[in-house]
Amino acid sequence: MTSHPIISVEHLRKSYVLGTVTVPALDDVSLSIDAGEMVCIMGKSGSGKSTLLRQLGLIDRPSSGRIVIDGQEVGELSERERSALRLARLGYVFQEYALIPELTAAENVYLPAMMLGRRGIDYRDRAAGLLEQVDLGDRMRHRPKQLSGGQQQRVAIARALVNSPAIVYADEPTANLDTVSGRTVMETLARLNRELDVTVVFVSHDLDESRYADRVLRLSDGRLVAADAVGAGATAGSSR
Ligand SMILES: Nc1ncnc2c1ncn2[C@@H]1O[C@H](COP(=O)(O)OP(=O)(O)OP(=O)(O)O)[C@@H](O)[C@H]1O
Ligand SMILES: [Mg+2]
Repeated sequence: MTSHPIISVEHLRKSYVLGTVTVPALDDVSLSIDAGEMVCIMGKSGSGKSTLLRQLGLIDRPSSGRIVIDGQEVGELSERERSALRLARLGYVFQEYALIPELTAAENVYLPAMMLGRRGIDYRDRAAGLLEQVDLGDRMRHRPKQLSGGQQQRVAIARALVNSPAIVYADEPTANLDTVSGRTVMETLARLNRELDVTVVFVSHDLDESRYADRVLRLSDGRLVAADAVGAGATAGSSR
């Protein structure tokens, strides 16, 4: 299979200005991620990992630089076009799960599909299928507080996939989980990356978790310092 970049970033900068203090959170970052890759972003606290993920996920706008996602130069898009791209092509998994407490697992999963409003889709079937895929087929009607942290995060993964996105972004998806639940979440992400060929970009502090990635991007003070391939021979690496 020939690979092509699904994310391409050139000379990305993001500075936060607070009063007289300017924090250069991202400083001249250039990178490229191929469709189907699973990439881990690592770096010390404050190195700019979440800031980078927010720019790549169109949650925030950079100070300067060029971002191309799924063939679209995103700097040129209107807010409305960016929202449409987010909903249809990108999925998100957050550290705090961000599920809606009043909704069941199935409802949480199919909400973004209803928002997208594609014709001819049975939302309930789609949600049920995805919950099966994350091993929660028997928890469809549970509300978030009736689920463990790891289960909630797997509901969040199913939700992130409901519109068949090209890319899933996950910012420290296991940070609030115990080791075993964290491993299940990472294994689920890695399996779906392989089976659905969805590109996954995740942030982690944990060297063990970085082994699930084909490649690690390291940030230090807002700059990319090294990009090393770890997929070959790694326990959880894919065979692409
Ligand atoms: N909204 C904001 N306003 C001002 N400064 C910010 C803002 N968000 C982040 N920063 C600053 O930008 C830098 C990068 O922050 P970021 O959240 O991207 O780091 P991180 O690598 O994700 O850290 P952590 O591992 O602690 O989550 C930090 O110095 C932070 O203080
Ligand atoms: Mg962060």
